[in-house]
Amino acid sequence: MQVSSILQTELSQAAVDAIVITVLGKKEDVKIELTPLAAEVDRLTKGLVQRLIDEGEISTSELSCTRLFSPPGLRSTSLIVVGLGNKTDTQSGLAYRVAGAAAKFLSTKQRRQVIMALDLDPQDEIVAGAMVGCQGQDIFRKQKKTFPIERLLLVNGDASAMRRGEIIGEAVNLTRRLVNLPANEIYPESFAEECVRQGKAHSFEIEAWDQDRLIKERCRALLAVAQGSVKPPRLVIMRYSGAPADHPTIALVGKGVTFDSGGLSIKPNEGMIDMKCDMAGAATVLGAITALVRLNVPANVIGLVGLAENMVGGNSFKLGDVLISRNGKTIEVLNTDAEGRLVLADVLDVALSLKAYKIVDLATLTGACVVALGRNVVGGMTNNESWYADVRAAADQCGEPLWQLPMFPEFSEQIRSSVADLKNIGDGRWGGAITAAKFLEEFVGDRPWVHLDIAGPSFSDKGSAWVDAGASGCFVRTLIQLIENLA
Ligand code: BES
Ligand code: MN
Ligand code: ZN
Repeated sequence: MQVSSILQTELSQAAVDAIVITVLGKKEDVKIELTPLAAEVDRLTKGLVQRLIDEGEISTSELSCTRLFSPPGLRSTSLIVVGLGNKTDTQSGLAYRVAGAAAKFLSTKQRRQVIMALDLDPQDEIVAGAMVGCQGQDIFRKQKKTFPIERLLLVNGDASAMRRGEIIGEAVNLTRRLVNLPANEIYPESFAEECVRQGKAHSFEIEAWDQDRLIKERCRALLAVAQGSVKPPRLVIMRYSGAPADHPTIALVGKGVTFDSGGLSIKPNEGMIDMKCDMAGAATVLGAITALVRLNVPANVIGLVGLAENMVGGNSFKLGDVLISRNGKTIEVLNTDAEGRLVLADVLDVALSLKAYKIVDLATLTGACVVALGRNVVGGMTNNESWYADVRAAADQCGEPLWQLPMFPEFSEQIRSSVADLKNIGDGRWGGAITAAKFLEEFVGDRPWVHLDIAGPSFSDKGSAWVDAGASGCFVRTLIQLIENLA
């Protein structure tokens, strides 16, 4: 998608496919408010917009889109009116969602030029939202359902804000594409190759550990998860040094299980269907790193992703196996489907070796988190409230829902094993998101750490008004915002 600016005075003469405006809905007794650019379009169309709203032909409810063809007074083929509900532009993430909804609405066929006259801020969110909204999951369909807009025009667009939006939109779409690609395309080696490709394209440093290196590094928990698969594992380290060397390094750690069959504790068909998405944490880290590099954020960040395929095979790890993790703690395996924490245990330890000052990990870790918080909310868990507050603030700024779960010490008792230091599941299923986090906490030493369980929001079979079903790219923006806030 190309992005450029257009003047407000050019609206009437612009021969484009669509102009998008927004209208604010108010309580029933109050007149609908037109935002300033919508009022201008209303004036150009001799009051058509207001008249249709008054007649109830244009919905003002949040993110609903109404299309008017051949609007009088304009040379645009159509006018798209997006409702804002009774939301105001101060609501974070609204610009992203509104632009996404309009772009998704328009994406049913090829559009050459679309003007967004949204009266919303910030402009980078408009651009990013639009890019995400018109990119779908139909990567392999001959008959596409979603067509990216060729050229997006923002009224009085600011060049640097638009550029920033493009970078963020590309990052979110990179993450989404990787998560949407099936496990026959994306496996540890091919994911690592994608990291290398991105590293070359955007000049950041990449180090990929192959199986031999992982053996040398004693990453035996990660290796155990991978050993039932014919696909060898990888651990990729991405380094971005945007600040002087004496600045502390933030580590972003991602779970990259490229397919989770459950292993010998095999999942039923229903539970396995979407398990290509189990590398969403890793894809989120990669997406965020590319954006941080391209935005030149003055910070030092390392991205670490643990890549493995959890399969059933003659060499699968087994129930009762005791694994010696990289940091020396021993783990009794009581469920091979609780594999993400095993992968992350070793990757978190590598992050400590690389002198991570603070850590955020992202993982599609537990179904229990989805039970607790639903499909749209990320679960946050921490050993450090102030570091959590930073993450929460970034998520709030982006309008990405995040809710904290408690880390009471009692939960740790559930992961004590009678034969090893730890076992990889709690007692029964209750509080499963928390016992998983408690397990991870054993591997972060004394570093401030936030664990984000993205099992719910990272992938959906329904989609939303502003993004197609499949991968959402959630929390790429929050990670970028977090690092920018620190810098
Ligand atoms: N990858 C799954 C969690 C998951 C579930 C992600 C649904 C996305 C959607 C994870 O590896 C897993 O299988 N967790 C188990 C843990 C249990 C065995 C303790 C779960 O949630 O059932
Ligand atoms: Mn699993
Ligand atoms: Zn998993």
